[in-house]
Amino acid sequence: MATTPCLIALDQGTTSSRAIAFAPTGEILAQAQRELPQHYPRSGWVEHDAERIWADSLAVLQETVRAVRATGAVPAALGLTNQRETVVVWERASGRPIHRAIVWQDRRTAETTRALRTAGHEDLVAARTGLLLDPYFSASKIAWVLDQVPGARARARAGELAAGTIDSFLIWQLTGGLHATDITNASRTSLFDIHRRSWDEELCALFDVPVSLLPEVRPNAGDFGHTRPDQTGLDLAITGSAGDQQAAAIGQACLAPGTVKSTYGTGCFLLQNTGAAPQASAHKLLTTIAFQVGDRVDYALEGSIFAAGATIQWLRDGLRLIASAGESAALAAQLPDNQGVYLVPAFTGLGAPHWDAEARGLLVGLTRDTGPAHLARAALEAVAYQTRDLVDALAADCGARAQTIRIDGGMAGNDWFAQFLADVLGTTVDRPAVTETTALGAALLAGVGGGLFDSLDDAARAWVSERRFTPAMAAGERDRLLAGWDAALARALTPPA
Ligand code: G3P
Repeated sequence: MATTPCLIALDQGTTSSRAIAFAPTGEILAQAQRELPQHYPRSGWVEHDAERIWADSLAVLQETVRAVRATGAVPAALGLTNQRETVVVWERASGRPIHRAIVWQDRRTAETTRALRTAGHEDLVAARTGLLLDPYFSASKIAWVLDQVPGARARARAGELAAGTIDSFLIWQLTGGLHATDITNASRTSLFDIHRRSWDEELCALFDVPVSLLPEVRPNAGDFGHTRPDQTGLDLAITGSAGDQQAAAIGQACLAPGTVKSTYGTGCFLLQNTGAAPQASAHKLLTTIAFQVGDRVDYALEGSIFAAGATIQWLRDGLRLIASAGESAALAAQLPDNQGVYLVPAFTGLGAPHWDAEARGLLVGLTRDTGPAHLARAALEAVAYQTRDLVDALAADCGARAQTIRIDGGMAGNDWFAQFLADVLGTTVDRPAVTETTALGAALLAGVGGGLFDSLDDAARAWVSERRFTPAMAAGERDRLLAGWDAALARALTPPA
């Protein structure tokens, strides 16, 4: 039997945990997936059962390794990627979480971050971390758990607890106690100085998070420990790890300055590689670390939208308007245009470039003949308009408009959406042959860390476009649609105090 080496990626996302086995060329050899239940204990709160995350992650890894071994391929290394910002606090002795994971979408700490802003701390946070003061990021969530779980602060002081993002929780479980994270996840916490590339004591004090709770920060390709065969049934070196959006940028081969990718998962996250120097945004984008491999550190500008696929999910599960996400495109295509109906999907506030935690969703332009097709179209269009707002902010920051955007994630498979996106952006949109770019990025990092590739450029060489969408809409039509979107958006934003 042939012994082809393959790379295993674990992608622990907001709505599912998946493992994929890739050939070094990017071909998918085996995969397994488990849906992750969402918990909404109060309005604006979003939680995950961290023990369920661990159980599902282990199960999909075991299933995938079994399946790929049956094909004759040999797993060479494991790469991790994860929903970012979501936090877990757990017991060092047992590995057991002391509270459910608080998810990146959760707004419970809006008051804390608002108070810090009012007290004038935003400039310091932005200068050191590249982020803004918003409940999206990890720091205020960790402090919330320490303050709300009885005895947690005392236990933290006694050295009994560990904290971190999902990657660090999974590394701990997989290895039996290594407390490590990678530099991209660290750079989303609000506690990490992206210039000095270390935890920042002053920020830890500001957010009231003891630095002793935090994991050791490592580059994206290299040693993240070894799975414990007795506990996991797996015998794999973990040689790569990155937050899911940074992993997607690698899977999209966005390694040169100016290259841009936009991933449509639960939210939409657009990243532009800006090279070796961090670039501050004057238009409320985030400055973040794209990756560190060896001594090479690349930075990115990022625009984060909280509801992309979540908007289509709302049509399906909330309104029961469609049975599957794919139906939205056919419905939208029934109409010659949106007929003045706009949806602003501010279900959990608005992210970049507005950062309005209190904004809530809005549907405008309804008439007696408004029907399911209008709603489906308005939902799809809203994701494209929000991307346009990010691309405008990027262009204003960089002084030049991106020429091409590489898209991936569930909605990227929707041809109607991809063409509409190209039309409103006025930019070509490339869809790659391998659309599982997040998992692919993690696998490529593991390949670099495990010595299968010489460099990240070598690893990402296989990237190829499957289809290019070229703008076809007349400029006047685009301007008319964008004016309608701007008017709807203005009504959803919280009026200035
Ligand atoms: O910043 C949040 C992001 O990492 C979540 O991504 O794909 O799980 O929606 P996703």
